[in-house]
Amino acid sequence: MQTTHEVRVGDARELDLDSESVDLVVTSPPYPMVEMWDDAFAAQDDAVAEALDAADGEAAFEAMHALLDEVWQGIADALVDGGIAAVNVGDATRRMDGRFRLFPNHGRIIEGLSAAGLQQLPGIVWRKPTNSTNKFMGSGTLPTNAYATLEHEHVLLFRKGDTREFPPKDTDRYASAFFWEERNEWFSDCWEIRGTRQTREADDDARERSGAFPLELPLRLVRMYSIRGDTVLDPFAGTGTTSLAALVSGRSSVAIERDADLAATFEPRAETAPDLSRDLAAERLEAHREFVADNPDTANYEAEHYDTYVVTKNERHIELSTVAAVERTGEAPTRFRATHEPF
Ligand SMILES: C[S@@+](CC[C@H](N)C(=O)[O-])C[C@H]1O[C@@H](n2cnc3c(N)ncnc32)[C@H](O)[C@@H]1O
Repeated sequence: MQTTHEVRVGDARELDLDSESVDLVVTSPPYPMVEMWDDAFAAQDDAVAEALDAADGEAAFEAMHALLDEVWQGIADALVDGGIAAVNVGDATRRMDGRFRLFPNHGRIIEGLSAAGLQQLPGIVWRKPTNSTNKFMGSGTLPTNAYATLEHEHVLLFRKGDTREFPPKDTDRYASAFFWEERNEWFSDCWEIRGTRQTREADDDARERSGAFPLELPLRLVRMYSIRGDTVLDPFAGTGTTSLAALVSGRSSVAIERDADLAATFEPRAETAPDLSRDLAAERLEAHREFVADNPDTANYEAEHYDTYVVTKNERHIELSTVAAVERTGEAPTRFRATHEPF
């Protein structure tokens, strides 16, 4: 099987994608009112720059979200019927004009995605791996003016229209099933994302500078909400973590990123995909075998492709895949073709 991966340097407000050409969106926009993104927003919209100069937090927050709203409209058009948009975002706290307040980005993006015609599904809250030494804000150990620390982010989940339709016994869908115990963990609404995977393929500092999310996050979402051969879009691609998750999972991807230097970081990451995909597949199977060893009475069906047992009939057809090779096939937009083989 082959997949394609496209990285465009450009503005997500001008998506220029065919209607209904994307099966899943996994993205994390620049977070309004988080200072590291002020310049990026201001460079794209004078209203943002003016509001920030005037220390008008409310106007700046609204102008930044107005910019994102244009992207939510675009992805609603690009999604297939039944396609899912998964948007990762954190809220912001900030003192402006002498006043400290919360800027509830997740609530405002829910409004934007709803206005774009998508339906909200139950979402996920995930706890960030934090290495902050100074955890308290405000009056420290004195009441009443201390503030809770924001240690979580949201994954907002929206769907276009009704549930996605598949032909009966669709081979790609059944091969993309997840193990029962994976389902129980992934479909919980509260995730603890551990640091192991992201530290292996990018150091924490680099991740913080680019605002990259840990690979585990898009990886789970890609496995939960798409099937083998689907196309996954990230309109705010940064270092291309969503594309990497799609690549190692046997899905095609389209990435859009306004910063050319960040967009260029995808290529060396894509070169790690053969080794990474083998590690990931081996880890998944090993974790499943451990589950079966611990729960011998619950797994009674024989898996078709692996020497193991599974809990439900649907899982019998699970077929993990790895990346055999990745080659660059075009410039501007940079395109890659990947060949996949069963694990
Ligand atoms: C939170 S970061 C995404 C990080 C990404 N998930 C990763 O793992 O590297 C948001 C990205 O959106 C980009 N961005 C901001 N405005 C944009 C726009 N209008 N079009 C495309 N990209 C944009 C920023 O340059 C930044 O890289």
